[in-house]
Amino acid sequence: MSENSYPFLYNCWYPAAWVHELADAAKVARVYLEKPIVIYKGESGKYIALDNRCCHRGAPLSLGRVEGDCIRCMYHGMKYDDSGVVIEIPGQDFIGPNHRVQNYPVVEKGNLLWIWMGDPGLASADDIHDYEPLSDPTWRGFEKEAYLHYDANWMLIVDNLADFSHLAFVHTNTLGGSEDYAFVTNPEVKKLDKGFNIVRWSKNDAPAPYHLKVNPDAPEKLDRCNSVQMLVPGSFFMSTIMAPVNWDPNSENFDGVKQYRNCQFMTPETRSTTHFFWNYLHNYRIDDPTISVSLKASLLEGFMEDKEIIEAQQKMLEYQEEFQPRGLQGDEALIHFRKVFSQLLKEEQENFDFHTRQLGNPII
Ligand code: FES
Ligand SMILES: [Fe+2]
Repeated sequence: MSENSYPFLYNCWYPAAWVHELADAAKVARVYLEKPIVIYKGESGKYIALDNRCCHRGAPLSLGRVEGDCIRCMYHGMKYDDSGVVIEIPGQDFIGPNHRVQNYPVVEKGNLLWIWMGDPGLASADDIHDYEPLSDPTWRGFEKEAYLHYDANWMLIVDNLADFSHLAFVHTNTLGGSEDYAFVTNPEVKKLDKGFNIVRWSKNDAPAPYHLKVNPDAPEKLDRCNSVQMLVPGSFFMSTIMAPVNWDPNSENFDGVKQYRNCQFMTPETRSTTHFFWNYLHNYRIDDPTISVSLKASLLEGFMEDKEIIEAQQKMLEYQEEFQPRGLQGDEALIHFRKVFSQLLKEEQENFDFHTRQLGNPII
């Protein structure tokens, strides 16, 4: 991939913000796929996403003022409607066709705001993968869903989630439990057209430390299963089961079985930084708020362990562009995902040039 090519898929939905981020701050200013964007909630309740650079002198519209569903740049006062067209210029009657910024489709689903950075004519909200536990009241997640910022390419986070043998070494005392996890588990990988599924049983194993914290009476040994799905461009879903030893997964009997649901979304900010949205849900003792507080703290501790090693890996890869990774058997899922992604990228780049569709903002 040359420095000037754009390694992103544009014609797909990306998580842009949790809904609560807009409720608290009214505007979110973030960069997606190397484009600065402002998202705000108009007074009609509608979410609006525009280029964050005013077409006059490039001041951020995120420092502007929401007026109805419009936004006014608070440098020289140009007012934009919700489609990005300038409808008022203080002290000037003439408004030209280039007095506008790009507007992007934005949709709310599953407590997330999703943005479409590509051809708006192709954007259909039906294509958003709706993760049901996020809106199912029988699952309890965090009071406020979580966000992390990574100084690493999003694909390195996908790689991390494609091989859970790292739980044994990166997360021994948080999510893993013991180094045995890497040696004794045997993941089943299923390749999909748009990603992969992995089912990983760890039988007669120590409970994960985060589970033990909220279930101090858990038995010393459990059968554990992480069943994951990763979909292009970067959506990860996981079901976790902590069951009594020799529990039959086809059984209807869930006595003594505890379950979790986890989603993680990676949205590229730039080719070397990533927005990371996540939640971790449980479906037992859901009236007890301390469980999700404890799970959030434990998982965050684990995710900071991932972040540390992945950001350090990013730095190493930047030092040596010619680095050729040597494969292991456990790379099957990540290699498949990269192949799928490269193919989709190639197809998209043959048919769609995002950059020629963008409005220029020449500053003379
Ligand atoms: S920079 Fe926005 S009005 Fe001048
Ligand atoms: Fe991890």
